[in-house]
Amino acid sequence: MPKPRRWLLSIKTADWPAGVGHLSFDEVTSTLDVAREQAAQHPTATWFTATRQTASRGRRGRPWVAPVGNFYGTLSLPCNDPEMASLRSFVAALAVDDALRTVMGDGPKLALKWPNDVLLNGGKVAGILLESLVVQGQMWGVAVGIGVNLIAAPDMTQVEDGAVYPVSVKGESGVDVTPDGFLKHLAPAFALWDRQLTTYGFAPIRTAWLARAARLGETITARLPNENVTGRFDTVDENGYLVLNTAKGPRNIAAADVFF
Ligand code: BTN
Repeated sequence: MPKPRRWLLSIKTADWPAGVGHLSFDEVTSTLDVAREQAAQHPTATWFTATRQTASRGRRGRPWVAPVGNFYGTLSLPCNDPEMASLRSFVAALAVDDALRTVMGDGPKLALKWPNDVLLNGGKVAGILLESLVVQGQMWGVAVGIGVNLIAAPDMTQVEDGAVYPVSVKGESGVDVTPDGFLKHLAPAFALWDRQLTTYGFAPIRTAWLARAARLGETITARLPNENVTGRFDTVDENGYLVLNTAKGPRNIAAADVFF
C-alpha cells in the first residue's frame, strides 16, 4: 500500500467531486429510506438530500428531530466490505467537521465524539447513522445518513437523559447556511477523506480523527447493552473501536453510547 509523506489533518475545497451524484427531494420519510430504494440504480456514490423528513431516525432507533432548514442527507456508497463500510462513520465525521469549519471560520470550537457525533462548543450539532445497503440478498454498499442542525436544535426535553445537549450552527455562531450551501462543502470534503481511506487504509483517518477527538485522555463511560464501562479514553484502535483503560485493564469496544 503506498504511504504518503505526511497524513492530511484537514481538507478544504469547494469543488463538487467528479463522478458523485446528487438527487434532492422536497419531502421524504428519511433520506436513508430513499437511498435504500434507489441506491442500486446509481452505481457510483450518490447524495440523497431532502428539505423535510417525516420519519427521521437516529442511532438505536431513536427519532431525529427534523425542522425545515437543517441538513438531511444520505450518501450511498458501493462497498462490499463490511469493515470498510463501518469506517465511513469516521470519514463522515471528519467531512462534517471540515464543512462546518469552512462555513463558520475558526472561532467556534468543534470536536468529534466517538463513535460518530460532531460537537460544537460542547453541544451536539450533527449525528451520523450508517446502514447497510443490501441488494438481492448481497451487501451492495453503505448508506451514510447525516443530520446537521444548521438553524435549529431540539430542546433538552426531546433528547434522552444524559445525552449531550443539542446545538445549532446558527445558535452558536450566528452563521446562516442553507442545506444546499452546506452540501457544497460537505460533498467534496467527504470525497477527499474517502479517497484517503480507500488509498491508504484507516491510518490517516484515525490520525486525523484522534487529533479532533473530544475527551481524549479523560475518564468517560461507554454504555453497552448489558453493562457500563468507565475508563480513560486512550485511543481508537485500528478497527475504529474505542479503547478505554479501565480498572481491570484495557477494553476495546466496538459499539456503545458514550457519556462524559
Ligand atoms: C444520531 O442519532 O446521532 C444519528 C442521526 C442521523 C440523522 C440523519 S438525517 C439524514 C438521515 N436520515 C435519517 O432518517 N437519519 C439520518
